[in-house]
Amino acid sequence: MSTAGTAPQAQLSESEMKLLQTLIYQECGMHFDSRRAHFLQDRLYRRLRECRMDSFYSYYRLLISKEGKDELAKLLENLTVNETSFFRNKAQMDLFHKHILDGLFRRKQEQRTYSLRIWSAGCSTGQEPYTIAMLVADALSYHVLRNPSGYDPILPRPLIPVPWKVEILASDISYSALRAAQEGLYSEHQMSTVDYSYRLRHFDKVGERYAVKKALRETVHFDFHNLKTEYLPQRNDVIFCRNVMMYFDEAEQKRLVEKFYRCLNPGGYLLVGHAESLLGLTDKFNMIYRETGTAYQQIEVEL
Ligand SMILES: C[S@@+](CC[C@H](N)C(=O)[O-])C[C@H]1O[C@@H](n2cnc3c(N)ncnc32)[C@H](O)[C@@H]1O
Repeated sequence: MSTAGTAPQAQLSESEMKLLQTLIYQECGMHFDSRRAHFLQDRLYRRLRECRMDSFYSYYRLLISKEGKDELAKLLENLTVNETSFFRNKAQMDLFHKHILDGLFRRKQEQRTYSLRIWSAGCSTGQEPYTIAMLVADALSYHVLRNPSGYDPILPRPLIPVPWKVEILASDISYSALRAAQEGLYSEHQMSTVDYSYRLRHFDKVGERYAVKKALRETVHFDFHNLKTEYLPQRNDVIFCRNVMMYFDEAEQKRLVEKFYRCLNPGGYLLVGHAESLLGLTDKFNMIYRETGTAYQQIEVEL
């Protein structure tokens, strides 16, 4: 029922909902089953109001037009769930820190390549890639202490010791999440899982918030990447894609895992979220685990 002076609210028909669901799936792989349909409807109504439009079909036409590119990006941004935290899934981070990194450093040192590339795919507001950076810096100083490479140390000691090169690429489909990540400012609440020694070494207190120090920030490079596309960052030693695939259907998960396989260096690692698994999606990875932490290692193909 409409009130005098207020425009009547547009109705979202079943066929319009299907059109929009298909478009969203094609654009970013997100799948809205019956449990999440309500969330999708709510966000669509919001965007329609924001655009001051009165029909979902016209809104759909806008989204598929050249002029609607910005609105499409806004809609997708409104549909993402950006929940994240520092040191999320501690057992898995321990496995990465103590087992995966140690193996990678040894291998790289033997090959005298001294360079490591890690990709946080679906990095949200940055807590995941900054956690990775802190752990890599820690593990690398420890490795260099025990396995000197013969290079003269530089003073003051850089975060990443010579001759090592560490690239951490962090990507997301949400521009606002990427902006926050790049800014690297976190509240006391967001810092609750960061222990005192990490706070001291890698953050400056700025008013009520904590700012990521320049040296740590410089190890992470943020960029926009839609995981639905084919052009994804190559030659990674480790890919973190945690709590992203759970929003995709099985067909899209299979396609994504296949892409990750191709984006990894031989024998590279893929780390997925606590509630996610590669079971039934691929047979090209072996699962590894320590305590309760799990990861997947690419099976190297013998040529
Ligand atoms: C729940 S957060 C997970 C953040 C972090 N990986 C973690 O586990 O704490 C999911 C992130 O995936 C991003 N995302 C969803 N679909 C995406 C896509 N097609 N391409 C890239 N990022 C996507 C969202 O924007 C969101 O920031």
